Amino acid sequence: MTTATSSTIAIPAVGEVPRHIAIIMDGNGRWARARHLPRVAGHRQGVEAVRAVVKACAERGVQYLTLFAFSSENWRRPREEVSLLMELFVRALQLEVKKLHKNAIRFRVIGDLASFSERIQELVGDSVALTRDNRGLTLTVAANYGGRWDILQAVNRLLAERTPGSGPVREEDLAGRLSMSEAPEPDLFIRTGGEQRISNFLLWQLAYTELYFTDTLWPDFDAAALDAAIASYRRRERRFGRTSEQLAQQSVPRQ
Ligand code: IPE
Ligand code: IPE
Ligand code: MG
Repeated sequence: MTTATSSTIAIPAVGEVPRHIAIIMDGNGRWARARHLPRVAGHRQGVEAVRAVVKACAERGVQYLTLFAFSSENWRRPREEVSLLMELFVRALQLEVKKLHKNAIRFRVIGDLASFSERIQELVGDSVALTRDNRGLTLTVAANYGGRWDILQAVNRLLAERTPGSGPVREEDLAGRLSMSEAPEPDLFIRTGGEQRISNFLLWQLAYTELYFTDTLWPDFDAAALDAAIASYRRRERRFGRTSEQLAQQSVPRQ
């Protein structure tokens, strides 16, 4: 399963449209501040951007969209902001899940949900169950997610399952236990809001992902901004360790 999509085990197929886009949706607070509004107004507008980008990705044939909504470090924010973000998450899910389902979107959540309220856990469970068999875009929301947490939970599962004589751990043993193991690794990573860092997002999976940073604040990110990111992606030469000459000689055309 993961062997086929591991960029370090086999060279993945590269298409015109990224199969998997992962986004750090950053800049909500600054968007609000620029308008003399409370930070939560930025988060609210951010939900609108999510709606637009989900739709645009589905229309463009992107198969996986993974959105960083709340990091394991975002608990460090003022309590009030954290609870407003949770409220917003609940409301957005309640309002949108039927529409996601109608559009054949498969909804998933990654992250340590144990620290979320029972209400949220239930709502997430119901939404995931409802959309499980959908064959359209897979929308994954990373909530209380951290790349290090993900690697550690995979290591701990691996340790628990190992028996004496299992031999050395192979890449696919670990990759297969990460939260995103069913998805191909992201082709394109987008971070809005001007910062150029990973902030503990998908550390393992981003090994060969093309990185795209834009100053556009998340609430302003729309279909046109997505197209600019995809256009940049198309101009990249994805070598996966090889030389440009090798790529030129390759008989396999881009899909
Ligand atoms: C991203 O926007 C949303 C979350 C991290 C939940 P921010 O809230 O980080 O916005 P800025 O970076 O302060 O502008
Ligand atoms: C990253 O944004 C996390 C999410 C977008 C959910 P932050 O705003 O928390 O990142 P830092 O703190 O600037 O690195
Ligand atoms: Mg931020």
